[in-house]
Amino acid sequence: MSFKIALLPGDGIGPEVIAAAVDVLKLAGEKFNVEFELKEYPVGGISYDKHGTPLTDEVLQACYDSDAVLLGAVGGIKWDSLQRDMKPEAALLKLRKSLGLFINIRPAKVYNALLNSSSLKADVLKGTDLLILRELTGDVYFGEPRGIDDEKGFNTMIYTKKEVERIARYAFEVASKRKKKLHSVDKANVLETSQFWRKLVINISKDYPNVSLEHMYVDNAAMQLVRDPRQFDVILTQNMFGDILSDISGMITGSLGMLPSASLGNNYALYEPVHGSAPDIAGENKANPLATISSVGLMFIHSFQMNKAAELIEEAISRTLSAGYRTKDIAQPDNVIVSTTKMKDLVIENFNIIYDEQALGVFTL
Ligand code: IPM
Ligand code: MN
Repeated sequence: MSFKIALLPGDGIGPEVIAAAVDVLKLAGEKFNVEFELKEYPVGGISYDKHGTPLTDEVLQACYDSDAVLLGAVGGIKWDSLQRDMKPEAALLKLRKSLGLFINIRPAKVYNALLNSSSLKADVLKGTDLLILRELTGDVYFGEPRGIDDEKGFNTMIYTKKEVERIARYAFEVASKRKKKLHSVDKANVLETSQFWRKLVINISKDYPNVSLEHMYVDNAAMQLVRDPRQFDVILTQNMFGDILSDISGMITGSLGMLPSASLGNNYALYEPVHGSAPDIAGENKANPLATISSVGLMFIHSFQMNKAAELIEEAISRTLSAGYRTKDIAQPDNVIVSTTKMKDLVIENFNIIYDEQALGVFTL
């Protein structure tokens, strides 16, 4: 079996976390007899500097021609004053829109070893395992008209029936395979967009009588996420609210450096860490590569039906953390602080150990 993967390292710490994840990807490929054809392309600020645009047509075409895309991060102060369509972030938005990636999956699961790395209390977090399903190609992110002049700045918050229905249906499918509990998060007490969203979600829910549906306003949801995250299993929400709530859920895992994501559509898929390009630590071999390594795990599940390889990655990360190794972002006083590359080496070492254990039947996935 052979798969084509487009690598888009991007800016800041992007290249470092992608290099780490690629080593894990290659190892899993060898162990599971899957060939990965990897090609790297510029995206974001680095592409703007080279080509005058954050995303060239060639790179977009390369993504269309790939089985999956793995992206690092884009952005940096250097490009902050550019107009919106030239900013590194615009590349990400264009990729999402062009590839039709309307489903954004952001799981927040707490590793026991990290219970004390969060600013939240360990007994509040323990056992949390939730999934944010963020709509990714609609909302105020893409609504027209939008603009800015000396007197005003404006955007349009809009959802079409088709956009809401397809993500809602996906969310009910996912919820029915998990704990059969779905929270739809909106701001229907104020926004027409959200009233429309809620009405359609209720309609779709009739096809899933075994899933319990609860509606929650986004401000309350933000509070509930830090008060009692275990009450959630699957959270379905609009693009903008999902952006904010998924950063909050980063603290559940101890650090934004832990959160992976998958962006899926009907024909394409892109995987990336939730965190940004962290220009302040770029090039210092300090960044946490675990979110990107976990994103490779999501790629195995959603693009390549390699669930065992994904479980192996998760277990390898878990053991590495349990042994007390941490990058700086998740370190506690008694931990061993390691670099990006060292963390990756440790995950690889554990991956190999677990692989052998399961071959011998000592460990079952
Ligand atoms: C994210 C990021 C992006 C978003 C930015 C970089 C455009 O914050 O993926 O969460 O707002 O969607
Ligand atoms: Mn975000």
